[in-house]
Parts: sequence; C-alpha cells; structure tokens
Amino acid sequence: MAIPRRNPSVLGLVLLSMVAIASAEVFFEEKFEDGWEKRWVKSDWKKDENMAGEWNYTAGKWNGDSNDKGIQTSEDYRFYAISAEFPEFSNKDKTLVFQFSVKHEQKLDCGGGYMKLLSGEVDQKKFGGETPYSIMFGPDICGYSTKKVHAILTKNETNHLIKKEVPCETDQLTHVYTLIIRPDATYSILVDNEEKQTGSLYSDWDILPPKTIKDPEAKKPEDWDEKEYIPDPEDKKPEGYDDIPKEIPDPDAKKPEDWDDEEDGEWTAPTIPNPEYKGPWKPKKIKNPNYKGKWKAPMIDNPDFKDDPEIYVYPNLKYVGIELWQVKSGTMFDNVLVSDDPEYAKKLAEETWGKNKDAEKAAFDDAEKKREDEESKDDPVDSDDESGDAADADDDHADDSDAEEAEKDEVHHDEL
Ligand SMILES: *[C@@H]1O[C@H](CO)[C@@H](O)[C@H](O)[C@H]1NC(C)=O
Ligand SMILES: *[C@@H]1O[C@H](CO)[C@@H](O)[C@H](O)[C@H]1NC(C)=O
Repeated sequence: MAIPRRNPSVLGLVLLSMVAIASAEVFFEEKFEDGWEKRWVKSDWKKDENMAGEWNYTAGKWNGDSNDKGIQTSEDYRFYAISAEFPEFSNKDKTLVFQFSVKHEQKLDCGGGYMKLLSGEVDQKKFGGETPYSIMFGPDICGYSTKKVHAILTKNETNHLIKKEVPCETDQLTHVYTLIIRPDATYSILVDNEEKQTGSLYSDWDILPPKTIKDPEAKKPEDWDEKEYIPDPEDKKPEGYDDIPKEIPDPDAKKPEDWDDEEDGEWTAPTIPNPEYKGPWKPKKIKNPNYKGKWKAPMIDNPDFKDDPEIYVYPNLKYVGIELWQVKSGTMFDNVLVSDDPEYAKKLAEETWGKNKDAEKAAFDDAEKKREDEESKDDPVDSDDESGDAADADDDHADDSDAEEAEKDEVHHDEL
C-alpha cells in the first residue's frame, strides 16, 4: 500500500497546518446570545441575606453594537455568583487559553472584574466566595494602589498569586483579557491581544520551591575587591599646596575715613574666603584595576526542589464562573472562551472587541460629553448631595439643544 511520494514537503506542510487550525479545540465559548440563561446557573449564594445582586442582560450604556449583549452587575453593594459547566477536560499536553472581555461602565474605584475556572464537581447553586477554584484571572482595581491583572493558580489547595506586576486597564471601555498556559510551563498574559507579561510558571509563581538558591555556605573571599575606584597612587600633592590660606584680607576693603588708629587700634582689612583655597588635598580617583564587581553568592541546586513536570496541568477543569463583590455595580462580561488555541482566541477577540471598539469609544465620548454638559448646568455648589435627583432630572433634558442648555445655565446661575 505504501506508495513512496517523491515530493510531499510543500503540500504536506500546507495540509499539516490546515489540520493544526482545524483541530483547535473549544471547550467553552459564550457570546451571551439567546439561550445563555440555560447555560449559566445563578447561585443562591448570599440570597438569604438579600445580598445577592441581579445581572442585567444588556449591551451596556455605550457599545459598538447594540445587539451584542453581555451580563452586567446591576445593583450596588451586592455579591455576584454565576457559573457555567462544560465537558470536563484536562489541559495535559495542551495549551490552555482562558479569555473574556470586561467593561467597567461604573468608573470602578474598587472591585474586581475577574473570572474563575473550577474543577471537579461543584454545586453551582452554592457557588460562592468559598468555593475552591483552579484559576482566577482578570483585572482588579482598588484605589490608586491596586490596578492589576490577577493570575492566581491553585495547586495542592493553595492559591498562588503571580509575583510579577501586570497592569490592567482602568477606563470605562471593553477590554479583552487572555491567559495562556503552555505545556512547557510558560505563560503569557494579553490585554487587548497584546502581550503584557510572559515567563515561566516556575519563576513567576511560588508553586514549587525555586530550582536554584544562593549557596548558603558561600563566603566572600578575603581578597575580593569590591571597590570600583581607588585613590591614584601616582597623584602627588603640588608643592606649596598647604601654604594656600583658607581666607585672605578683602582686597576691596578700605580703612574708614573716621578711623582713629590711636583710639580704634591698628586697622586691619576684614577677611574673605580665598578663591584659591581648594580644601585639604586629596589624590584623584582612578578605576581600581583589581575591581571584581559586587560579590554574589554562587547559585546551587535547591535541595528542597522537586520538579513537577505537571506544574501546568489541571486534570479536570469543568466550570467557568464569576464571583464578585461590588460596591458600585456596572461591570460587564462577554465573550468568554476556554480553548487550546491562542490563534483562535486572538481571532475571536478581533471579531468582537476589535470590531466594535472604535464605535464603542465614540459612543462613550458622546455619553461623556452629554454628562459633562448636564453637570455644568447643575448647581456647582451642592453637587455632592442630591446627585441622584440631579441625574434623574438630567435624563429628562438629554435631548435639549446646547443653546437651550446654555440659556438655562445662565438663568440658573443668575438665581444664585
Ligand atoms: C440594564 O442596562 C440598561 C443599559 O445600560 C439600562 O438602561 C437598564 O436600566 C438596566 N437595567 C437594570 C435593571 O439595571
Ligand atoms: C501539598 O500540601 C501539603 C500540606 O500543605 C504538603 O504537606 C505537601 O508536601 C504538598 N505537596 C506538594 C507536592 O507540594
């Protein structure tokens, strides 16, 4: 049967690459189109305390496509927990891609926009903050200090936070967050299809003890020279250097007219600092020819390190979930993907976020302009209280022309 082919290379490669693309596996994909409510389970977590927030199925206040909806937190001071199940899989020998988009319409000052992957059997009706998860990933903002992308990997029931800083987006627009974990134990974190961080699971998390450590036995050799500069042994003090006085009589001083040598004593000019005086002599410095650099202890293999070639493996991933506490609601999730193919994920991001982002930005700028116009119309003195009422009133005037608004503005201020 074996027919020797003489030149299989080109066609073979083309076919191979086609197979590679075709074999992209999608374990879960959610664009929040019709029927999404059948796929997602809202948890009862915090319901009996009346602290479970409602999700709003919406395209948001500003968007690039009003038909492209996601789910958005809609009540302040509430807990949110929702999850979806997919056929269980292991990412052993596979690349794992976890991606979603998130938009904080509320100008988030403190709160998360992250999602989780969970393993094994989870009672989705009870999914909440205490439910163990395998991976937690996404942006987290709190005040000025926390503006980062979380990437928590749970291993052996311990949550390991990424040790590198990965800044997140802080505006009120949609952004795509992507976590890629590869079988060679490397990872990448992308925001809007741009790599923001990459490295190794070994070094950027403390999942395993470090492979190498500084030799605790090593000591700096006695003759190790750490001085980068030394006094020039050739340099000599110029002759007469020490005879230069620190101060000299002021050459411009004149004996006052009414000075009486007999009564006032012999006149001497006041002294001033001598511009010639350069302080005590010091030889100039030169590069130390024996300089060896700062001493560092040599690295040795860490006796506590035991390699785990499956450091990247999650053998029974089965759910994707959102579990959040929100002080201010308005965070919106969309286009959730769990796959084994970064290229597929990239394409999906381009076809959703990429396609809509300019129109969304324009819609946002419009909304902002309207809001600013309305605000400048408001009483600037007590804008703090009754802001809710003011906002309601503003909506009624949303269609007013700028000219009318300017007029009202004047009237309003004249009243003050
Ligand atoms: C849902 O979102 C839309 C668009 O922002 C908004 O008009 C509506 O009031 C929201 N509904 C709830 C219940 O929050
Ligand atoms: C897992 O955790 C337990 C308890 O903390 C510990 O004794 C054990 O060594 C850990 N195993 C690995 C492989 O890290």
